[in-house]
Amino acid sequence: MDLLIRLKREIAGLDFSQTVQKTVSFLRKNIAHYNWVGVYMLEGNELVLTAWDGPEATQHTRIPIGTGICGLAAREKRTVIVGDVNADSRYLACFPYTKSEIVVPIFKDSKVLGEIDIDSNTLNAFTERDREFLESVAALLGERYV
Ligand code: SME
Repeated sequence: MDLLIRLKREIAGLDFSQTVQKTVSFLRKNIAHYNWVGVYMLEGNELVLTAWDGPEATQHTRIPIGTGICGLAAREKRTVIVGDVNADSRYLACFPYTKSEIVVPIFKDSKVLGEIDIDSNTLNAFTERDREFLESVAALLGERYV
């Protein structure tokens, strides 16, 4: 079954915070190249880590929007894909084994509410298919936010 339909079923009836936690776990469990999955929510000028799933915690639990790939995606209100994080000076390192990253903003009424941040241990892991899928997941989270 389509992953988005399965995710919708799994989050039915959950509140927003449960939805975000379920979503990060679902993404990590079902997609092999999603090695660390987090959701940051925007609070003022900072992105605050709200839920995550992965082998270990990140020390970057609050990221100013001026910093990192996460900050860039929030500032520019667009999905950012970095194929090789070690070749990108804007990258804010979390885990030594991360090779590529995708950050997808979550919008509510055209404003950035937060973002989905995914790290992969594989170079160039994220394609346009990931972008399209994750933008649909982000739209779902935006709809569920109250
Ligand atoms: N790499 C991110 C920081 C968050 S960690 O990947 C969990 C960045 O460059 O903004």
